[in-house]
Amino acid sequence: MNKLIAAIFSIVIFAVAAFAGGKEVPPVRTNYYEVNFDPAKIAPYTLEDPLTFLDGSKVTTPEQWKIRRQEILDIFAREMYGQQPPLPETVIIETIEENQLTLGGFGMRSQYKMYFRADKSGPVIYWLVIAPQYVKKPAPVIMFLNYGGNQTLLNDSQVLIPETPENWLRPYRITASRGALLAPEHYYHFPIQTILSAGYAVVSACYKNVSPDPDIEEKNPDFQQHNFACSGVFELWGKRDESRTDNITALGAWAWVLSRGVDLVEKLPYLDAGKVAVTGCSRLGKAALLAAARDERFAVCVPIQSGGGGATLAKRDFGENIATQMQMFTHWYCKAYKKYERNPAKLLTFDQHLLVAAIAPRRLLIGGFDRAWFDTEGEFLACKAASPVWEFLGKPGLPTTVYPDSYEIGAIGKYLGYYRRTGGHGLAGFDWWQLLHFAAEE
Ligand code: GCU
Repeated sequence: MNKLIAAIFSIVIFAVAAFAGGKEVPPVRTNYYEVNFDPAKIAPYTLEDPLTFLDGSKVTTPEQWKIRRQEILDIFAREMYGQQPPLPETVIIETIEENQLTLGGFGMRSQYKMYFRADKSGPVIYWLVIAPQYVKKPAPVIMFLNYGGNQTLLNDSQVLIPETPENWLRPYRITASRGALLAPEHYYHFPIQTILSAGYAVVSACYKNVSPDPDIEEKNPDFQQHNFACSGVFELWGKRDESRTDNITALGAWAWVLSRGVDLVEKLPYLDAGKVAVTGCSRLGKAALLAAARDERFAVCVPIQSGGGGATLAKRDFGENIATQMQMFTHWYCKAYKKYERNPAKLLTFDQHLLVAAIAPRRLLIGGFDRAWFDTEGEFLACKAASPVWEFLGKPGLPTTVYPDSYEIGAIGKYLGYYRRTGGHGLAGFDWWQLLHFAAEE
């Protein structure tokens, strides 16, 4: 009898295994609400060694690292962020005004229009530069894309609010938003006086001026993701071939414009193009990270609360996941990324620590915060896994392997650092403080 039960049991096992092709069937995520917030339920995963090529051979020299870095960037272009947009036909900079006193004479305000075609047709980006008035040599730069328009950065009636198509730059049309970020109670605080006092100039453009990013709450179908994203600078790249799985994405477009910001800095003698720090929060933190990974002209990168699709590990099933990303933000990632959503821990063959590593040996500080959705521990672990690349290239890596408490700064090294804080989602005074100190290190 026991033999009979055992025989039936092995037939059932065999049939199940055969049906599954001998493989474990990955769980299917289809629902936005299927998000794991329980650390005990994080499935095991392994991370690829950044210093091993896809063919299994080891990186043994800095020259080989350059090749491996390109291999990594190619993976992200093919599988996640879409192809890197091509260089523009030209970059034409038109000065609207230059070095006008602002902030009671403490700062200088400049504004530029940037075109990408010789005949100035197509998209135009409006850049605002605020530089310290007292600095005699070219100033180091903090560059970021802003959410609500350049006018939110200065309470100054001269900051342009561009004419824009109906709706997509809604915040631009709210003149009451002038200087909105200067208020200390704003969750995106912008301490311009402190930034200028530290000797930095700020270079910024509005991300919606680059590529509109529809509100997920939007009710008007004309302005919803599918009908609306991939306009703005996308016009430069021609008609999209929708059969491709690696089309340029919104994150790729925002990162591309940050590189155009460096083109601008290179042309302005009062700014130091060798000292550009790129930052941004949330989706714009992801864009900053991608920009610095792709463009070595960024000397420093400080992505703040970039979370899923940014610095945090995607294989670690905690908080936001690939399925929610592909459902909510279809234009941020390319189609190829969707194939991993069923089980990132098993299916992914790369992870965000590799993108982090692509910035080595330049200086990178990752700022996280304690909201489970953004899985900041995953950001720390990505830094930790990328740290050997800094060491390999002769720079100090992460100074600790212990996940720090909120507001602890012991994991901030000279070249690679991580910190986290509690509180609201945004760039707070604490983030600016860490950024300024980190960027100032030589
Ligand atoms: C959502 C999204 C995040 C993103 C954030 C934002 O929360 O899931 O990945 O960073 O929006 O950019 O506002």
